[in-house]
Amino acid sequence: MRRKIVVGNWKMNNTIAESVDLATAIAEKVGADGVQCEVGIAPTFPALYEVCKVIEWSGIRLCAQNCHYESDGPFTGEVSTRMLAAAGCSYVILGHSERRQLFGETNATVNLKVKKALAEGLSVILCVGETLDERERGVTGQIVTAQVVEGLIDVTDISKLVIAYEPVWAIGTGKTATKEQAQEVHALIRAKVTELYGQKAADHLRIQYGGSVKPSNAAELFAMPDIDGGLIGGASLNADDFMAIVEAAG
Ligand code: PGA
Repeated sequence: MRRKIVVGNWKMNNTIAESVDLATAIAEKVGADGVQCEVGIAPTFPALYEVCKVIEWSGIRLCAQNCHYESDGPFTGEVSTRMLAAAGCSYVILGHSERRQLFGETNATVNLKVKKALAEGLSVILCVGETLDERERGVTGQIVTAQVVEGLIDVTDISKLVIAYEPVWAIGTGKTATKEQAQEVHALIRAKVTELYGQKAADHLRIQYGGSVKPSNAAELFAMPDIDGGLIGGASLNADDFMAIVEAAG
C-alpha cells in the first residue's frame, strides 16, 4: 500500500511572518490529530528556516520549490540543494509548469536538478503535465512520457522520487481534470515507470495529482487507484482548506 502524500505549494506567497503563522496553524492540526498521509509544505526560500523551526515537531516535511544543480558558485539568484538541506528541507519540487513556462526550464535542466537533489539526499517531486493546446492536439501521452523519461535520464534509484501530474490547463484555473482524465494519465506514467524501473519500483512510486484540488473534489480524486495524493496550490494557503484536503487523503 502506498502512503498518500499531500504537499502545499505556496508559490510566491507569504512573508516570513505570514509563513510561520500558516505553518504553525497546519502543524498544530497535523501534530495534534495525527494524520495518515505524509504532509509537506513548500514556502518561499526566505521563509524555509523559520518555518522549519515551527513544524519540526509535527512530522510535516519541509519542501523547497526549486533548486540549482551546482553546489555553490557564481550563480546569482540561485539556491543549492546543500543550502536547502541545511535549512531543513527534505523535499524539493522540480519542473513545475510555472518554472517551465515562465523561467525557461526544459526537461534537460530539470534532469540536472533531479540528479543533484537526489545525490544530496533530498526527495524530489518531479512535476509533469500537458498544456491545453497539447491536450487538444491529442499529444498528452507523448508530452508527459517525454517529461518523465527525459527528467529521469541517468537516475537509477527512484525510491526518493514522487511524480506530480499537473495538467497546465488545470493549475490555478478552477478547472480540475476529471478523476477519469487524471487516472488515465497516472496509469500511463506508472506503466512507463514500470518499463524503466521494474514492477516493484513502480508499485512503490507515489504519483500526486495537482491542478485546482479543493476540499470539494479531493476525496474523489484520491480514491482513484493510481492517484496517491495531491500537490496543492491555491487551496494550501488556507489552513482549514488544506487540512480538509489532507483529511481526504485518509
Ligand atoms: P492550484 O496549483 O492548486 O492552485 O491549481 C497547483 C500547483 O501549481 O501545484
